[in-house]
Amino acid sequence: MNVLLIGSGGREHALAWKLLQSSFLTQLFVAPGNAGTAELATNLKVDVNNHNAVSRAVKKHNIGLVVVGPEAPLVNGLVDHLQDCGKHPELVVVGPRAAGAQLEGSKSFAKEFMKRHNIPTAAYGAFDGEQVKEAVAFLAKMKAPYVLKADGLAAGKGVIITDDLSEAESVVKDMLSGSSFGEAGRRVVIEHFMDGIECSMFVVTDGKAYHLLPSAKDYKRIGEGDTGPNTGGMGAVSPVPFMDAEFHEKAINQIIIPTVKGLAADDIPYNGFIFFGLMKVGGDPYVVEYNCRLGDPETEVIVPRIQSDLLHLFENMGAGLLSEYHLQIDPKTCSTVMLVSEGYPGNYAKGKSITVPERMEKDTLLFHSGTGTSRGNTVTSGGRVLACSALAATPENALKKSYALADAVSFTGKAYRKDIGQDIL
Ligand code: GLY
Repeated sequence: MNVLLIGSGGREHALAWKLLQSSFLTQLFVAPGNAGTAELATNLKVDVNNHNAVSRAVKKHNIGLVVVGPEAPLVNGLVDHLQDCGKHPELVVVGPRAAGAQLEGSKSFAKEFMKRHNIPTAAYGAFDGEQVKEAVAFLAKMKAPYVLKADGLAAGKGVIITDDLSEAESVVKDMLSGSSFGEAGRRVVIEHFMDGIECSMFVVTDGKAYHLLPSAKDYKRIGEGDTGPNTGGMGAVSPVPFMDAEFHEKAINQIIIPTVKGLAADDIPYNGFIFFGLMKVGGDPYVVEYNCRLGDPETEVIVPRIQSDLLHLFENMGAGLLSEYHLQIDPKTCSTVMLVSEGYPGNYAKGKSITVPERMEKDTLLFHSGTGTSRGNTVTSGGRVLACSALAATPENALKKSYALADAVSFTGKAYRKDIGQDIL
């Protein structure tokens, strides 16, 4: 079968690496891909926001299965287009239609969904552009810190937490006026703060059955000790020692099963991944956010632990046969350390030549994120550049290998956090 993978980050390089191992794969295409996926597959210069262009690529390359990596094409209805245009009756798509992608595309939709299905999450209020007064009054009744979320997609920047009530009021006013996050902020969710430790769970589902993928913890802030501005993620570890069997059990029964059943009860078909951003508060799980896709860099620690044939898993999902599928997971730990361009998440230089080790140590993997090719050289093209992943029997050894790889790669302006995983050791 020919497969088209949509996206261009470390997540897509990791998925491409795994799909390449499938005995069911004929040819892999990635749109638009990066320098790492170009080494494994055929990159296509297709604008993934142009649904007709994606549809033409599907036809031209005789694609049987499409995997959509990032959230924006899902929220924008790429899957609906591919499945409703009448041109690809047999096509399997991994990724929900726009209705299911609302779990990530609208924070207020997700909160209403959780309320409807009794899924534990922080108490909240949701306000639109005409409700500035009501939003300010709601804030005045709350205790600090204030958690303010732009309703729509905001490239990971749409959540602001502040202790200062007057700052919270002006953030809410800026959001609702459209001046800080455009349309994404014209509706705001104001949440009660949850004091706990963040971690993530992931499932693949066909809307009826689901399989649990490895859990993970990512490190969102740029600075060591979780300081400084948020990033897309500076590293990750899987599994997470503090997510013990009891916590998993609670999360499955109180959150995962009610979510999958809730989608079915609401008549929302769902084929693809659900990413549960969780807060562990006093031993109990609460949903911080849903994502309708895998995380990045979480994928770079989840995928190396999947022992089953990923394409076979996707085919079973497409056929609605997930309940009969047996998914095998490697018990080892996988860690990843993200190499970024100095200045990220602010301004940073691009086009710096990258040198990678000639020989990779066993069970280490270098996944490209923001890379491109210039005059035959691999160069930096984004803030997050490369994910240094490693598998080992213990978290200590996995991290040691990730850091050895991080040291062995060079490019001008290379930066990375030195404390990934230290808190869970
Ligand atoms: N690493 C967080 C995310 O992918 O949303």
